[in-house]
Amino acid sequence: SKTYYATTPIYYVNSVPHIGHLYTTTLAHTACQWGQLVSGTECRLTGTDEYGSKVMKAAAANKMEPLDYCNKISARFKDMSDKFGIQYYDFIRTTEGRHRDTVQHFWVVQSNGYIYKGSYEGWYCTSDETFLTDSQIEEVVDKHTGKTQLLSRDSGHPVEWTKETNYMFSLSLFIDIIREKVLSDPNFVYPAKAKNTVLRLLDEHTGDLSVSRESSRVPWGIPVPGDPTQTIYVWMDALVNYLTVTGYPDTGYVKMWPADVHFIGVDILKFHAVFWPAFLLAAGLELPKQIVASCHWTIENSKMSKSKGNVVDPFKMADSVTAEGFKYFLLRQGVLEHDCNYREQLVYEVINADIVNILGNCLNRAVAKRLNPQQKYPPFNKEIFNKDENGNCRDGRITDLDFAYIEQVKKLPEMANIHCSKFHFYNAIFEMMSVAREANMMIHRHEAWKLDSKDPADLLLLESIIHSVFEGLRVTGILLQPIIPILADKLLTRLNIPQSERTWAKANESFLELNGLSEPLVGTSLGNDKSLLFNRVKN
Ligand code: ME8
Ligand code: MG
Repeated sequence: SKTYYATTPIYYVNSVPHIGHLYTTTLAHTACQWGQLVSGTECRLTGTDEYGSKVMKAAAANKMEPLDYCNKISARFKDMSDKFGIQYYDFIRTTEGRHRDTVQHFWVVQSNGYIYKGSYEGWYCTSDETFLTDSQIEEVVDKHTGKTQLLSRDSGHPVEWTKETNYMFSLSLFIDIIREKVLSDPNFVYPAKAKNTVLRLLDEHTGDLSVSRESSRVPWGIPVPGDPTQTIYVWMDALVNYLTVTGYPDTGYVKMWPADVHFIGVDILKFHAVFWPAFLLAAGLELPKQIVASCHWTIENSKMSKSKGNVVDPFKMADSVTAEGFKYFLLRQGVLEHDCNYREQLVYEVINADIVNILGNCLNRAVAKRLNPQQKYPPFNKEIFNKDENGNCRDGRITDLDFAYIEQVKKLPEMANIHCSKFHFYNAIFEMMSVAREANMMIHRHEAWKLDSKDPADLLLLESIIHSVFEGLRVTGILLQPIIPILADKLLTRLNIPQSERTWAKANESFLELNGLSEPLVGTSLGNDKSLLFNRVKN
């Protein structure tokens, strides 16, 4: 059977990672973890993209040999994954021998009809490792030097005129097929905004694509099979990483291929949604099932990028608010459909508001000795919720708001799953936090701290309130496992939920007493780690 196969881009090693890279990697990882919670299987990868003139220039600027330089920066990307608790199935590096073999094989398969020798003359943007047409560049006067510069309209990076004999790929042959695919399968390029961008790119497309560079200019690359004077264009090389990991061309590759989803940023949509499908079609391979492109993190409304240097260091943020705190922030604030402006102050605000004030506070109140002197998971006393013919509960203090809360908890897993399946993790988190907020409200509404546990009627109500709050926290804790596993574990451990009960099925079984079933947790003692769920972060 096929494993779920999700990918991240393999990042360039021209500089150390920033939070944009962490964001895409976190999206991919969370999607996998969510899938694992809900339905089982998991598999993913990440890695680094190491060839090409961009990396070669960066190595030279650092006075290092390219491979030494790659070793150093690649390790930082690996460290980032480790630091943020992101497990990779396979950390691929394009400088590995297994990758060169796959790329060269892939080239030979395509060259059968779709690669020809031609000459290329045009603009090349090294920062983006891409060829550009006249309409894609603009002349800009440098404010400081007064010199005119030619820049890519899209990225603002400088372009150079290049004239070479290259191998060309018959991209034009595939444009209509790809357009048809994008139109007929609305989830192929996701979300809709990215899909529309791709349709525009397909319409703007002109001519075939140069897929090699002269080795004399770009020696840092994989040689074209049978022609050492040329190296393979870095994007063809890079994209093939998604196949290398599957073991292609060994027959076992079908266990993973086609990929279920490629997570990328919109900056590399053209390569993934136009070039890559064309390369795959030419090689007679299946297309990935989905390409998910997120918008960018910006700083003062300008894209955060290694080339511009306006980057935020994920390691520094992890030291300041913990890796989980920061991952929470990224998933809570990041939206696929539009750019997110980064402000450090916002990180503190979001974490303090959600994890400390809502979730932490709710847990603290419900486990406090004052409300819960026995330190147990109390029963839900269904009988006081029974309504008479006028719709009034036996305990008149119970209102529709309490029933609405119970419904909200019962629906939470399904709601969260709808959002997570669309990779709208922020919405799923929002739903979880509203449950925690409403749980707090339940305590507040009934002024639970004023109830007298020696009074039989008060006791029934108090137990039911705490039980309801625990149910909300238990379900939220289970659903937070794919997002912030360490905190989720802490929350569930405080409630003393055994590992075997932290499953999707158990999240879907709340308030069992309402269905006339007894609840296994009722009467169990709380866990004894009494530390705070999360310490307030500086603001
Ligand atoms: O393009 N906001 O590598 P790269 C959000 N090697 N995400 C961002 C971001 C930002 N400001 N900046 C970068 C390459 N990213 C190629 C990929 S894949 C076969 C080859 C993320 O280091 C986002 O996922 O420039 C973007 O697409 C990717 O990093 C680009 O990383
Ligand atoms: Mg880039």
